[in-house]
Amino acid sequence: MQQPNKTAEWEQLLKLAAQPRDLRQLFSQQPSRGTDYSLQAGDIFLDYSKNLIDDEVLQALFGLARAQNLEARRDAMFAGEHINATEDRSVLHVALRDQSNQSKNVDGSDVHQQVRTVLDQMTDFSTAIRDKSWTGYTGKPIKNVVNIGIGGSDLGPVMASEALKFYSQRDIHIDFISNIDATQFAEVTRNLDPAETLFIIASKTFTTDETMTNARSARQWTLDSLQDDAAIAKHFVAVSTNAEEVSKFGIDTANMFEFWDWVGGRYSMTSAIGLAVMISIGPDNFHELLKGFYAMDEHFRTASLEQNQPVLLALLGIWYTNFNGAQTEAILPYDQYLHRLPAYLQQASMESNGKRVDLQGNPVSYSTAPVLWGEPGTNGQHAFYQLIHQGTQLIPCDFIGFVNSLNPVGEHHPKLTANLFAQTEALAFGKTADEVRAEGVGEVLVNHKVFTGNKPSNTILAEKLTPNVLGQLIALYEHKIFAQGVIWNINSFDQWGVELGKVLAKTIYSELSDSTKQPAHDSSTNNLIARYQKQHR
Ligand code: F6P
Repeated sequence: MQQPNKTAEWEQLLKLAAQPRDLRQLFSQQPSRGTDYSLQAGDIFLDYSKNLIDDEVLQALFGLARAQNLEARRDAMFAGEHINATEDRSVLHVALRDQSNQSKNVDGSDVHQQVRTVLDQMTDFSTAIRDKSWTGYTGKPIKNVVNIGIGGSDLGPVMASEALKFYSQRDIHIDFISNIDATQFAEVTRNLDPAETLFIIASKTFTTDETMTNARSARQWTLDSLQDDAAIAKHFVAVSTNAEEVSKFGIDTANMFEFWDWVGGRYSMTSAIGLAVMISIGPDNFHELLKGFYAMDEHFRTASLEQNQPVLLALLGIWYTNFNGAQTEAILPYDQYLHRLPAYLQQASMESNGKRVDLQGNPVSYSTAPVLWGEPGTNGQHAFYQLIHQGTQLIPCDFIGFVNSLNPVGEHHPKLTANLFAQTEALAFGKTADEVRAEGVGEVLVNHKVFTGNKPSNTILAEKLTPNVLGQLIALYEHKIFAQGVIWNINSFDQWGVELGKVLAKTIYSELSDSTKQPAHDSSTNNLIARYQKQHR
């Protein structure tokens, strides 16, 4: 494995990036560009024609992927090799949704059997909550399910339960507590009846401070009302890899849904971490979600690099990040149900590929993951699109939309979709000074009204937002992120960068709560601690 900037393909891409490319010209030279540069995989249609690329660039990008052994690394992941080298672990989220029914032996265990057992347990439990045969301690059915978790133990379930709300059982209210700020706990529990509330404590490690602090508050809140330790068994379940800590917390391991260290936190939404989602949309829809993931997994595993959607997205991202100076990437879903998708993908991409050393531990001398951000359209159009159209930064955008709305009301959906298509057109082709003048605009305003265009975007379109389509969409991005990590020669599956803050927070916490302690940090941090100690009541 080598750093990508040592390859001949990298050199070639640098040269290609120095040549200007103009989307107006590229489209007029190649009238079929819109179809030539689009690719259907399963239910997902990807139009990548509005990118600053041509065949030469694409060939060089595919060459770079091959030089970095992408196919072999992909096979190694699917085979369960310990590609998470710094933690000596397999990376097998793909096994969570494998529909092939074949056993898969990894490190001495049949992971498919393990997955099936937990899926059956989740199915039984979700059904019991949904049909009200599982009741709370006082015999009342569960009306509220609150998932307590953070990061990968929160963002996936939040995103998917919002994305699939249309399919939810409406008499069960699903909510989430992640922040250690008690405000979220207070506001979520404010109007809930403990006798009708189930908490899912979701934590891979079961040691994360935010989650354990919230879980303890939830236990106290429940006991304050129900007044009996025996109530915990009816109102708390755990999702974790750590049976010992679950049991120490006081949750019977019979009420624990297991997953395994080969599932990374940010790749865990198809594990038992999806329990809240399954309760909300039901086991059948959850299985459809898994099938969608599997369809995209298979596409990624078997399609040639040239016909591979995740690979294309990965390479386009690398083209902009490493050769065209882009520092961010926008995810713009034109569907309100996907309003948490950018936040979910933020963790998936930035925690995976926000790395400064390569697999061998050597500092890299090229950019890795860009800052990922976004909001649903059309809201974003009235907020930050100004900068994308006329600002000074290059921001590649992914527009995501659906041909049919789940809520077809009047003219809303054609208007929404028209906005999506219009934005990609405006970004790509802009408006020249002559076109502005032709509209009768006075000279003094011409430059203000020019759109330079040549702003790249992908359009990702599916017929309808279903559980299956959501699975395909998320797996598309998961594998994009994987492919980028391989090309950058980094470990996408560890996250050492979150540790230092956690350790320092422990020390500072002990200082904040004891004003006799003399903090020994820098003058800024000491000052902030002293101010807190003085003003806190
Ligand atoms: O903040 C880092 C992190 O470890 C994430 O990778 C993870 O998703 C999150 O914390 C939650 O971890 P856990 O599921 O172990 O509580």
